[in-house]
Amino acid sequence: MKIDKTSLLNICLNNEIWQNRTVVEMVAVQKHHDDLLRSQLEALTEADKDYWSFKGNSRRECGHGMFQYPAMMVPQIAKTILEQACAVHPDIENVGDPFVGSGTIMTESMMHGLSFYGVDINPLAILLCRVKKGPFYINALKDKTMLLNSRIDGDGQDSIEVNFHNKDKWFTRDVQVSMSKIRRAIRKEGALWARRFFWVALAEAVRLTSNSRTSTFKLHTRTQQDIVDRVCDPIGMFKRALFRNIHHYEEQARTLSCSGQLARGHYKREVKISLADVRNAQELSNLDIIITSPPYGDNATTVPYGQYSYLPLQWIDLDDVERGLDTKYLDSTHEIDFRSLGGSRRLEKEELESLQDRSSAFKNYVQTLNDQPRDRIIRVAAFFRDLDNSLDPILKSLRPGGLMVWTLGNRKVGGKRVPLDCVLTELLQLQQAAMLCKLTRRISSKRMAFKNNIAETMSNETILVMRKAI
Ligand SMILES: C[S@@+](CC[C@H](N)C(=O)[O-])C[C@H]1O[C@@H](n2cnc3c(N)ncnc32)[C@H](O)[C@@H]1O
Repeated sequence: MKIDKTSLLNICLNNEIWQNRTVVEMVAVQKHHDDLLRSQLEALTEADKDYWSFKGNSRRECGHGMFQYPAMMVPQIAKTILEQACAVHPDIENVGDPFVGSGTIMTESMMHGLSFYGVDINPLAILLCRVKKGPFYINALKDKTMLLNSRIDGDGQDSIEVNFHNKDKWFTRDVQVSMSKIRRAIRKEGALWARRFFWVALAEAVRLTSNSRTSTFKLHTRTQQDIVDRVCDPIGMFKRALFRNIHHYEEQARTLSCSGQLARGHYKREVKISLADVRNAQELSNLDIIITSPPYGDNATTVPYGQYSYLPLQWIDLDDVERGLDTKYLDSTHEIDFRSLGGSRRLEKEELESLQDRSSAFKNYVQTLNDQPRDRIIRVAAFFRDLDNSLDPILKSLRPGGLMVWTLGNRKVGGKRVPLDCVLTELLQLQQAAMLCKLTRRISSKRMAFKNNIAETMSNETILVMRKAI
């Protein structure tokens, strides 16, 4: 039976099945959906040109407030995008984030009652997500916390639990003794879900009590005088982080429970988090929408997620993050960053040429760097080569006609702004993805590794909304 276009649109908008539709019919429906979504998102920007900045309204509640991971997405962006996308496509069920980080998109997807699939190369990010996805055994957690605290307080030993290169450079002996008490107490806990929860609080205490400055994500030792003068209380910091995290966890459990999303403390839908390099990831599949924020450049000159995570991971039982986790991840302070996008700067001439052939924005950018040290072009090109290599697996994981939302920042290298948004758009268009709209958000500040002539802070971010071809 052939149906007219208006009825077809109504059927699809009412979440009917797409089976037996011709491609022409599906394209017509999709165009209607595109127009609707675009006009909804643009209307928000027209009503308030700073809408996407969420100024004064970017509080991190529920699971979002549990740990300060670098360059976390503003939860309200994820929330608005999901609301708008689900209004046009009520049949959205599976959300994915191939650069999941601390799980902002995951937490928002759970709040919307959706299934979620996330990937990250950083074990600390995976630990955070695995804690935030539950189970939410709040009363048991409170009981276990009391037991844990009494174990810590009753521990009179002064032996050190961990050993790694430069341990004494990064931690004073007193801090090592206190951290060891916490670590011993956590390891005595029988339940994996509870140990993971405790490791997150320990990660925060490590960050705050190590000899590395907290003003930068990079590992950078404090002055000797500062180390001597500093009064730190690792156990107190750990307990405060734990207390605050329980509060956020409880808040999240309450919200999920009120919307009928919890069954005996477990989120009802599937949430799968994989430790993997997205370039080889096979974990994601059949996604309806991808919402993500990839790194904006190589970690060394943007945000060194790996260096940031290195010291906490030394104190965490890696088997609790993932059984059999490759300990080579912690061979050096640079290993995770080396494995991340743009980490290897070995670049073939053909790779550079291929990028230039496929992206005019990249080609133009490279020309502006011609009078600068070659290293700068290589650094940027190696990042784009890796990002490009991640697009195929990412697109394969998305169902035909699925949506993609990319939050991106155009940083400067050698004084020239790297057009990440334009290059990515061109590379995705080559894979038959189409642009729906491009939104801009102003950001007040974004902490970078360091400001120099390689990388500078950004004042804007772009949100690309695209759709994979049917
Ligand atoms: C901007 S952060 C994502 C932040 C996240 N949206 C949040 O709210 O926390 C980018 C993430 O990409 C991850 N990453 C970098 N290279 C990767 C790769 N090759 N495979 C998977 N994840 C990678 C980093 O570890 C980092 O967690």
